[in-house]
Amino acid sequence: MTDIFHYKDGVLFAEEVSLAAIAETVGTPAYVYAAKGMCDQLAALQDAFAGQRMMICYAIKANSNIAVVKTLANQGAGAEIVSGGELQKALAAGVPGTMIMFAGVAKSRDEMAMALDAGIAQFNVESVPELIALSEVAAAKKTKAPVAIRINPDVAADTHEKISTGRRQDKFGIAYDQAGEVYAMASSLAGIEPIGVHLHIGSQIMSLAPFETAYQRGADLVRELRAQGIPIKRLDLGGGMGVRYRGDVRLDIAAYADLVQTITGDLDVELLLEPGRYLVAEAGTMLAKVRYMKQGDERPFAILDAGMNDLIRPALYDAYHEILPVKEAAPNAELQATDVVGPICESSDIFARGRALPPLEPEDLVAFLGAGAYGAVMASDYNARPLAAEVLVDGDRFSVVRPRIEPALRFADERIPEWLETPPVECGRAC
Ligand SMILES: Cc1ncc(COP(=O)(O)O)c(C=O)c1O
Repeated sequence: MTDIFHYKDGVLFAEEVSLAAIAETVGTPAYVYAAKGMCDQLAALQDAFAGQRMMICYAIKANSNIAVVKTLANQGAGAEIVSGGELQKALAAGVPGTMIMFAGVAKSRDEMAMALDAGIAQFNVESVPELIALSEVAAAKKTKAPVAIRINPDVAADTHEKISTGRRQDKFGIAYDQAGEVYAMASSLAGIEPIGVHLHIGSQIMSLAPFETAYQRGADLVRELRAQGIPIKRLDLGGGMGVRYRGDVRLDIAAYADLVQTITGDLDVELLLEPGRYLVAEAGTMLAKVRYMKQGDERPFAILDAGMNDLIRPALYDAYHEILPVKEAAPNAELQATDVVGPICESSDIFARGRALPPLEPEDLVAFLGAGAYGAVMASDYNARPLAAEVLVDGDRFSVVRPRIEPALRFADERIPEWLETPPVECGRAC
């Protein structure tokens, strides 16, 4: 439980709205985001860096619902994007081009052109061929693209293998020891203006040590490049700040800001941060309903109407999400080890094994906490299932910010080729 998600009169609330009432209105599964939770996180980061020349570009890959992006943009956040689609979403949410930064390992020329037309603040480039392509696209438009090159600092982020990005063997960025050469080459390209240094070492990082090593390397590189005559004015430190999933602590953001200040204080650079998860994870929950209870060999299974297609993090990263019954359990309720699973025909469709939960019954609602980041955005319609509705809560009001998307709408664009239209006379033999 958190201050955002709390029980009131025996029912779980998001801010001042009952989750039971939301489920009644929109059905389940549904994602519910609390505006206050996101704004508080952004404010904590802004306060920690008060007085610093900086831009916070929310990594919208964490949750790109335009109502979420707008909630943060209204409080001063820009956007970090990784595709033309995300560029369109950021602009639709009202983020000005000058507060958009375009990252990603393989931007297409069309995406580059769209972003140049939108007048974005910075491209983060990850390879020499990408640099050359961007230069050509910008030169054809008689402009220069403002660029930071992503450096691979060769630092292990001490997080899950699948969300670690800053080690030598990872596919991201340019090796630290090749940086000088690549910046020199970038400066010679007609369509490139090298303005910054970028690094991002991974996600859900809970200790300062990996940030310290990586940021030190970033700051050293700024000095070296300036000595080389390249006027670096921005240092982009990426995202990755860890959040609370299991009653554990978050990354201490004030200590993080102190660390950044200590390392970069004498550089006279503008800082750029790209937090995703930190801003939205704890502000979101996924609501689901128990469809059936089944007694397994060792424990009961609670089979939900939500599956791995709705929330894939447990299957993909062994991620832990706290699960709360929406109707508060009686204080003396005996907890029971329960396997919480989805309805999908995959053995990895499991949210939790042996989780201590009060006894559950069909039709009971449960809430997965910490589901605001990398939840709805990673959902699919696997098994031709609908895409869950999304709801934004603000104080005592709520609004559906994406209705449930039914399968018929998803396959409306599928086509049967004309040669399949007429079945063969003796179908079954000739097909
Ligand atoms: C380049 C870059 N920046 C920022 C982020 C956001 O990371 P997080 O959500 O951990 O803050 C990511 C995540 O994949 C990323 O690849």
